[in-house]
Amino acid sequence: MSETETPALFSPMTIGGVTLPNRIVISPMCTYSADDGVASDWHLVHLGQYALGGAGLVFTEAAAVSQNARITHGDMGIWSDEHAEALKPIAAFLKAHGAVPGIQLAHAGRKASIQRPWFGNGPLGEDDFARGDQPWDIGAPSALPVDEGWLVPHEMTVDEIHTVQQNFADAAGRSAAAGFEVLEIHSAHGYLGNTFLSPLSNQRNDAYGGDRAGRMRFTLEMVEKVRAVWPAGKPLFVRVSAIDGVGGGWSLDDTVVLAGELKARGVDVMDCSSGGIGGPATAVSSRDAIPMGFRLPFSERVRADADMPTMTHGFIIQADHAEQIVREGRADLIGIAREALYNPYWPRHAAHQLGHNPDFSHWPKQYGWWLVRRESNLRKLGIDRAGA
Ligand SMILES: Cc1cc2nc3c(=O)[nH]c(=O)nc-3n(C[C@H](O)[C@H](O)[C@H](O)COP(=O)(O)O)c2cc1C
Repeated sequence: MSETETPALFSPMTIGGVTLPNRIVISPMCTYSADDGVASDWHLVHLGQYALGGAGLVFTEAAAVSQNARITHGDMGIWSDEHAEALKPIAAFLKAHGAVPGIQLAHAGRKASIQRPWFGNGPLGEDDFARGDQPWDIGAPSALPVDEGWLVPHEMTVDEIHTVQQNFADAAGRSAAAGFEVLEIHSAHGYLGNTFLSPLSNQRNDAYGGDRAGRMRFTLEMVEKVRAVWPAGKPLFVRVSAIDGVGGGWSLDDTVVLAGELKARGVDVMDCSSGGIGGPATAVSSRDAIPMGFRLPFSERVRADADMPTMTHGFIIQADHAEQIVREGRADLIGIAREALYNPYWPRHAAHQLGHNPDFSHWPKQYGWWLVRRESNLRKLGIDRAGA
């Protein structure tokens, strides 16, 4: 790469009518800090820092499409106009500060009604009840719990399935009204969509179970309903667990078939995650160290075989690595989650390390003016921060 060439990581990407200024995406991250699903100043500041930090696309955390679609009592949601109103200033702030605002829509399925992580991440108990956190009835394709000690869901009726699909469509309409420009449907990590796809959790005998086509029906019908409401020029992503990582589960071959079906229904990007149906959430043995970029084989395969843009994420923390992934066409977009918690300015630091925007002109002007002068003195002192 010549000194003046823009790194692939910082090349824009146009999807439909929306242009992402670079390839770095803040991957959705639940913060379990909403009040009855309503976003607050916490969400504005938490997400806003990622726009200032230079990400091209900032996703909200999973937004529940109904009250009982939440994982915990702290989940954010978008099941009413009041919820959408609370999200408006957040979408506007992200946009005003150079990031494309995105929202992830979700239903927790058989993983609903549990404790916030810091209260135990398990079934709700006496301490939670005392705090006012009561459990609720949960539904899933089949009456199968995640594992021993988890709540047993009831088998959803066909009417319930249609209601949930409509909840997603209604939430998509509210998301557009709130100013979001990218929508992601969460169908990964053992939540509702994933449990319909996987033969391990879907043992129905009706049209929504059985063979792969039956198990895909819930997701495909829901995507059709969402796409009919979500404006045509605005990108639609679907996040899947590309493999369950458990014997007899959903496979990468299945994912490639699903990607083709989603693409035919107007989905623009497949966000390739893994795991969560049971066993480790990463689909990597908990005994092994998780390799950097461990989900890359999934995005690479979907991109090649379904001819569809992909997003990858999972332990991508080095600028050079992210740059190489995009340059080699292994994924179009790089999601960062925990790295962004550690360093919300990761995109700006990555740009610096790749020699892009060395004059700080892409930084918020309130910061850039000072940083140029600071950098100049650091250089005189022989300190090179770009490589740090
Ligand atoms: C605090 C936290 C909350 C998360 N919440 C969500 C979520 O709401 N939706 C989702 O699809 N993934 C969620 N994830 C997974 C991340 O989006 C991401 O896929 C995963 O952490 C791997 O990326 P990383 O190695 O950069 O952290 C969450 C991860 C973290 C650390």
